[in-house]
Amino acid sequence: MSTSKPGLEKSVTTGAGIRQAFLKFYEDKGHAILPSASLVPEDPTVLLTIAGMLPFKPIFLGQRKAPVPRATTSQKCIRTNDIENVGRTARHHTFFEMLGNFSFGDYFKEQAVAWAWELSTKVFKLDPKNLIVSVFREDDDAFAIWRDQVGVPKERIIRMDEADNFWTSCPTGPCGPCSEIYYDFHPERGDDNIDLEDDTRFIEFYNLVFMQYNRDADGNLTPLQAQNIDTGMGLERMAQILQAKPNNYETDLIFPIIKTAAEIAGVDYFAVDESAKISLKVIGDHVRSVAHMISDGITASNVGRGYILRRLIRRVVRHGRLLGIEGAFINQVAEGAIAL
Ligand code: GLY
Repeated sequence: MSTSKPGLEKSVTTGAGIRQAFLKFYEDKGHAILPSASLVPEDPTVLLTIAGMLPFKPIFLGQRKAPVPRATTSQKCIRTNDIENVGRTARHHTFFEMLGNFSFGDYFKEQAVAWAWELSTKVFKLDPKNLIVSVFREDDDAFAIWRDQVGVPKERIIRMDEADNFWTSCPTGPCGPCSEIYYDFHPERGDDNIDLEDDTRFIEFYNLVFMQYNRDADGNLTPLQAQNIDTGMGLERMAQILQAKPNNYETDLIFPIIKTAAEIAGVDYFAVDESAKISLKVIGDHVRSVAHMISDGITASNVGRGYILRRLIRRVVRHGRLLGIEGAFINQVAEGAIAL
């Protein structure tokens, strides 16, 4: 794995520093910094806020006027569709923060790509040699922008199909082709047989969605009134890259919680076997979800988002028991999550 980032001050590599640098970069580009919306969405089609764009869905659909032409946010999000992967892979989470820049019918593809590259290479000082991008299979415009305007070698612009590069938050609603920026931990392996799914080599950290269609229940795409930009950068993923950690869990955004859980269990995270490490990572991840859900007014129950909360709490308790923790301990680890 690549280690230090020459010239990058430590303050920028912390989770808080990355968040601040992202928002400031886009504020300087004329975006209004808006607060994170609640995890309890207005949108009735989902139980929880699953992406930075969700609070803006009525604007993209033309149902509400945009308060500003450009906005930037750090949105708290929860997704539980990959819950079984949490702790087992380097990057799956239930709770995560999504950094986003949004254009409501203002700038589009060219500008979004140019700024994403500038932010990645000038602010976060990622070496272009470590970057690789994907575009939607049919999106020749995006391909040409990356190749001709940014200068990415064509071998490092990978065309992907709908499953990977056509983004929609829900089965219906605003959507569009997307282009993703990946960090390549091993550029020395060359450009032959690139498999962006290989997470021992690549991590996707920035998704640029060219939001221009509404998809109906029959799968028909209708152009939206305006061409919009919706992006998502995983704060935890950028922290993994800039802090040169082997996974998101060992970054300063989550590791303090893991450390507290390990202390309660009387174990050393770096010395325990793989299954105990998974339990500690599950606790580190889920406690963040639990603390933020409760602070947004969700209470445990048998249905809907209340059931999600209950399930997450149960999983924390179970993994605590697997580590040999007896008695109540969630309050102690939750203090860590609240303090972060
Ligand atoms: N809305 C972009 C993303 O979630 O990746």
